[in-house]
Amino acid sequence: MPEQETLWRRAAQERRATALAHPNIAFIKYWGNQDDEMVLPANPSLSMNLAAFTTVTTVAFDDTLPADTLTINQTEAGGDALARVGKILDLVRQASGLHSRARVESVSNVPMGAGIASSAAAFAALSLAASAAAGLPRDEAALSRLARRGSGSACRSVPGGFCRWDTGDDESSVAVSIAPAEHWALWDVVAVVSEAHKQVGSSGGHPLAATSDLHPARIAGAGRRVEVCQQAILARDLAAMGPVIEEDAVMMHAVMMTGRPPLYYWTPATMALILAVQQWREDGIPVYFTIDAGPNVHCICPAGAVEAVAARARRVPGVQRVITSGPGGPARLVPAA
Ligand code: DP6
Repeated sequence: MPEQETLWRRAAQERRATALAHPNIAFIKYWGNQDDEMVLPANPSLSMNLAAFTTVTTVAFDDTLPADTLTINQTEAGGDALARVGKILDLVRQASGLHSRARVESVSNVPMGAGIASSAAAFAALSLAASAAAGLPRDEAALSRLARRGSGSACRSVPGGFCRWDTGDDESSVAVSIAPAEHWALWDVVAVVSEAHKQVGSSGGHPLAATSDLHPARIAGAGRRVEVCQQAILARDLAAMGPVIEEDAVMMHAVMMTGRPPLYYWTPATMALILAVQQWREDGIPVYFTIDAGPNVHCICPAGAVEAVAARARRVPGVQRVITSGPGGPARLVPAA
């Protein structure tokens, strides 16, 4: 990507960069950390970037600013959001020796409350824009490591297409692409059953994972599920991948439901969709489900089945709307808006 080299060089000169990143859907889930502060996951995970959704973030370092500032979709943000962004900027300042504060402007079309973690795209775009603007060397592993500190799953939005994130220490626990987006036209048809804000988000949920007696069992099998899923992705074999992604999602929810305190994300509509997906398969449609930390059901199917799955999902009682996406590329610099 010679254009990326050019944009990266220009960013360092101007102390300003704009980056675009996609959120991702995990096929084998990240749930629970070995180290909450460093965001070192308890198990390896595997995901696909979602092309339909993007976050575009501009970071401009400016000597005259007294403090970092943040706007999200043109609205000034403070509190927790600004603190999480400040943490990433501090790591970039530490690595680059730069002392200036930064203006951060982020625009996202990730639908709010649709169960697609906007934080993954947000921290991937922020890490890239801030690193380029600070003149750090262009290094995908370093960007994935930095994004991980903002939000674990964000490390998987740095490389392109289908990405694997391994356990390890701060140095080694980064995501790598196992296949580019063009490798396989696999789609995510999201059946949105509730847009209400979650009572407990992922950040609050990870520390609870270890309170479930089922957590060690999920962790013990996660490596095998990642291997099966990776081989199935490489072979473009949905029939091999499907059962293992459903098993992994249900195991994660079993851990959530048996923690202390328990977390119940499913609603009756979630269960109705799980049963409906099984019926659609019996009807001959290749489709499998996965579910994140929320009630919405992600139906994973080949491009050719998207219309049939979406039409059926809309007819399931309790489904409010359906949104769809194919595989997305890596986080990248884009010319300033
Ligand atoms: C259920 O990466 O959103 O979506 O690091 O606290 O921001 P934080 O958590 P986050 O957790 C994602 C949990 C998940 C599964 C996954 O994406 O692997």
